[in-house]
Amino acid sequence: MCGIVAYIGHKPARPILLEGLKRLEYRGYDSAGIALLADDTFEIYKADGRISALEDILPTGQANEVIGIGHTRWATHGAPNTTNAHPHLDATGKITIVHNGIIENYATLKKWLLSKGCQFKSDTDSEVIANLIGYFYSTENARDGNDRPAGENKFEWAVQQALHELCGTYGLAILCSDYPDTLIGAKKGSPLILGVGENEYIIASDAAAIVEHTTQAIYLSDNEMVTVSTEGFRTMTIDNVVVTKELKDIEFSLEQIELADFEHYMQKEIAEQPTAIATCLGGRIDLTNGRVILGGIDEQLRDLTRTKRIILTACGTAWHACLVGEFLFEQLARIPAEVEYASEFRYRNPIIEDGTIVIAISQSGETADTLAAVEQAKERGATVLGMVNVVGSTIARTTDAGIYLRVGPEIGVASTKAFTAQVAVLTMLAIELGRRRHLSSDYAAALLRELNDLPEKIETILRQSDHIKQIAQANIDKENWLFLGRGVNYPVALEGALKLKEISYIHAEGLPAAEMKHGPIALITDRMPTVFIATKSSQYDKIMGNIEEVRARGGKTIIVATEGDDRIADHADHLITIPDATEQLQPILTVIPLQLLAYHAAVLRGHDVDKPRNLAKSVTVE
Ligand code: AGP
Repeated sequence: MCGIVAYIGHKPARPILLEGLKRLEYRGYDSAGIALLADDTFEIYKADGRISALEDILPTGQANEVIGIGHTRWATHGAPNTTNAHPHLDATGKITIVHNGIIENYATLKKWLLSKGCQFKSDTDSEVIANLIGYFYSTENARDGNDRPAGENKFEWAVQQALHELCGTYGLAILCSDYPDTLIGAKKGSPLILGVGENEYIIASDAAAIVEHTTQAIYLSDNEMVTVSTEGFRTMTIDNVVVTKELKDIEFSLEQIELADFEHYMQKEIAEQPTAIATCLGGRIDLTNGRVILGGIDEQLRDLTRTKRIILTACGTAWHACLVGEFLFEQLARIPAEVEYASEFRYRNPIIEDGTIVIAISQSGETADTLAAVEQAKERGATVLGMVNVVGSTIARTTDAGIYLRVGPEIGVASTKAFTAQVAVLTMLAIELGRRRHLSSDYAAALLRELNDLPEKIETILRQSDHIKQIAQANIDKENWLFLGRGVNYPVALEGALKLKEISYIHAEGLPAAEMKHGPIALITDRMPTVFIATKSSQYDKIMGNIEEVRARGGKTIIVATEGDDRIADHADHLITIPDATEQLQPILTVIPLQLLAYHAAVLRGHDVDKPRNLAKSVTVE
């Protein structure tokens, strides 16, 4: 998704904007640009491709401007090129903006503006915003016929008039050349944060671009805007009603978003999982009484215990975690659960009976489809809980209550530690609900002890990275892979396929193992590796049968098995063994080899692991 960085203060803005944009690269982009305001003149620089291409076109020498806006663009309307890159200037040359989001009525507005004599240069919806503000600013003709109230700031007024015309989503940073000491930010549906420093301020799409300068931030809500000068800031609604916003601490540090000695963020985040899961579990497990403490949803636990149905909704990797959650709620708590793609749920006019609980899972807390599903569920009267990683994110603030994953920022586009944390939180919740219904304290305590010990077992698996790299090496010339699992490991098979697809660009399909017979078995050849999750489980013998069905047709097998399993070696062309665990707790372990397999395959194939083509870390558009 697009990244926004804007600065106003007493230091040169250009290096701050460029460094901030680099911290947002993980969001995914295809072009970048900055605008600096010196006295009453804009200097705008835009480049197709990486931020380095933008740096190459900047004039050498110190730039002294102390106010500017910057943008990394993930194309939605208009091809990725310099013309469509942001910042966009309005036709009068007085207004420049950077935008994250989608304006759904941009064509209608563009037609109206063209009828008013506005000129356009790009194919983007964002340029319509710049021209709309420029129109109201230059004509002072409000569409409702009301004149600008006497004394009201003309720049703010023009922005407010324009925002009222927009349908869709926006995170905006806006400059006006007549107001060289003013920066305006506005938010609706796309994240926007104001970092508050010592007489300096940074507006950004997420805290990663701010934390180097300040750990104090204001999180704008929808239909709010902020006017910033070096003297201070004022937050208001787009109806010009002043709102007071709480200053919050940014909950992560710079070193957490630094690469340290790792080659890629994904590599770092895979390696962080023992610590991350320990932190996620920390303070939440009462081993003595076999209980779980989830303070964020204390008030909802009673309703959860009694509910007749839990609906889990998310996208992508988080959706796979939901599938694990469905197994856990039904097996450990005996509560009916179902999983919905957020993108489908939001449009399906879903049936929500009284007492239904909806759980939305999202690493970023900004995924547009998941946010829309949350809003739909709330409109239909459901209690909606969030399981989110980014503190203060929109989904976290929109749900009735929630549980933070607490695994620190996940920068790599391919989600790893967030997935294992989502499963860990779902496991804790399922055990606690089971404990409140029928699980014995001994059994719950035993499960919790084992859950608490998983970080050590993850460490053991991570030590096989070189072995797994050799398996990737032996198979990276195969363009189609199959991932098969059963029961609670079937969602892990889907996750393994997604990981491989999204960073190595090898086509992969995940399936419940038994489903292979109903069609996909026609694909089995020695050119199609099949990855099996065949750990000790209630369906071990069944999956052994599936392995034989593949081998009998010349298929090659990569098998994830339990340490000490002396039967399976003869059935595996490549074998990865992992420590044993109770079946319900296995997903946190069985996914680790698949993350490493995908990572090594992508690196060996020479791909940009942290910024895979066409992908964004947080899909804040539909
Ligand atoms: C996972 O590796 C992908 N990056 C993607 O599927 C992601 O899980 C999905 O977009 C959901 O993101 P969220 O968890 O931030 O809502």
